Amino acid sequence: SFFLHVFSRHSKMPSAQVFNTKDEAVYTTSNGAPVGEPYAAQRIGTAGPLLLQDFHHIDLLAHFDRERIPERVVHAKGAGAHGYFESTHDLSDITSCKLFTSVGKKARATVRFSTVGGESGSADTARDPRGFAIKLRTEEGNLDWVFNNTPVFFIRDPAKFPHFIHTQKRDPQTHLKDADMFWDYLSQNPESAHQILILFSDRGTPDGYHNMHGYSGHTYKLVKDDGSWVYTQIHLIADGGFKTFDDATAGKLAGENPDYGIQSLFETIEARKYPSWTVYIQTMTPEQAENFRYNVLDLTKVWSHKDYPMRPVGKLVLDENVQNYFAEIEQAAFSPSHTIPYLEPSADPILQSRLFSYPDTHRHRLGVNYSQIPVNAPIVPVANFQRDGLMAINNQGSRPGYQSTIAPLTYLRYKGAMNGSPRDHERAAKHEIWIGGAFWDLSEVTELDFEQPRALFQDVMNDTDRDHLVSNIAGHLGNVKSPVIKARTLSYFASVDQSLSDRIAKAIGAPSAKPLQVKPASEAISFRAHVNKTVKL
Ligand code: HEM
Repeated sequence: SFFLHVFSRHSKMPSAQVFNTKDEAVYTTSNGAPVGEPYAAQRIGTAGPLLLQDFHHIDLLAHFDRERIPERVVHAKGAGAHGYFESTHDLSDITSCKLFTSVGKKARATVRFSTVGGESGSADTARDPRGFAIKLRTEEGNLDWVFNNTPVFFIRDPAKFPHFIHTQKRDPQTHLKDADMFWDYLSQNPESAHQILILFSDRGTPDGYHNMHGYSGHTYKLVKDDGSWVYTQIHLIADGGFKTFDDATAGKLAGENPDYGIQSLFETIEARKYPSWTVYIQTMTPEQAENFRYNVLDLTKVWSHKDYPMRPVGKLVLDENVQNYFAEIEQAAFSPSHTIPYLEPSADPILQSRLFSYPDTHRHRLGVNYSQIPVNAPIVPVANFQRDGLMAINNQGSRPGYQSTIAPLTYLRYKGAMNGSPRDHERAAKHEIWIGGAFWDLSEVTELDFEQPRALFQDVMNDTDRDHLVSNIAGHLGNVKSPVIKARTLSYFASVDQSLSDRIAKAIGAPSAKPLQVKPASEAISFRAHVNKTVKL
């Protein structure tokens, strides 16, 4: 097993700690002393009180009392496996990133899929986006792709994230999921329309975790040594296609087998039918971005495949089930800020917030030394000046805790890339530094925001998709008690397409609604407007 290999190589733990056969072991206390009688607590006589000297019993109970760690604040229910990424195409015309510039290069991967809103025991077939988090172990550190199975997201202003998530979770008083709360928020924040149409189509209920695509959603940057770069969006297209359930089947499975996704992933890999994805990228030059119809940093929009064609990059294959779910999946800590030279985040404010949020939550969920946990440990040696803290396992031996002249660390400077020297390239500086508009531009909704959801409804979906969308939304919106929220939500859908709104209204017995009043598309602040405000600092 690759994972066991990493475990023993990096943690220097005796191999006895990681075996998975149950028969060779001698039962011991946590300090390794053999115990003759596992099921007996020491007591005085046959009916007397217990003894404090019984370390075996105290060890057992005290550890049990501390078995739980916090579940993830979102994406708590998940499933995962190991595998590999293999580069199949050379991208050296647009990036100096080693992983993407030598065909045949492989990186071992750990992948965790998840639903978003539910708790750790919730149903795998719930209507929800799915997380698709990938850790690639490269010679230049770990690269995490913390993606979803939808190409867009509900928001583009990170200040909304905790509010939005709270509306998808439980009501503070009733401790129930609440349709009023759900639609109250969404109908007031209509930039979510694109994602909502995807969520309430059958793509909101995928058939298992491995029969779906993955998308960066965000714009990233691929950088070259000479300082030039392109914007990029990353797609993982499931080789077996995107398989979905209709609402009735998903609902039935949620009751009969809430762990359907975990089970089907595990059994598929055990049967050696290894799930695989083809990795593609779309790219856009900075000049193209300035003339793009939408803001290239707006996570609620997709890039047309016609204008920005899909370019193949590599393969992702899952070929190894875990030996220990907690150690290999629950303790996995993914973050968009775990990146490698020449693949950089864009200035998308949601992405920028995520760069902070993930390591922050890991320090809370797993501790300050979370990256020393075997599943998170890079395959390359880590050398820096971080020391000590709870559970410091790889504390870097006798290496000085500062940059000494006796044993200095080498700094690798990558030209052009952010993970090295400061970027001094004129064009990057010009393109990226701007002032003004920052408070309101991404919160402002205009008619432009309904174009892509409308195209999805009118042009991409077929009649069956549209029928399912209407009944899926009606099934949920019908639970809303407040007539005001119902009416506003119907207006929200009318802004996408009047017939969509009217069909939902009919299904829930509500009056027809007019579209929301929003500014015309011409008043949207575009990326170009940002760039025009560019100043050189
Ligand atoms: C999980 C925050 C948006 C994908 C999480 C976690 C946090 C978080 C705190 C829990 C991580 C853990 O405990 O290990 C945020 C914030 C966002 C945001 C603050 C926006 C401001 C997104 C977006 C995507 C995404 C846009 C996808 C494009 C994921 C995935 C996981 C996750 C896949 C699960 C990772 C795993 O399997 O361990 N997010 N998130 N999130 N998020 Fe986000």
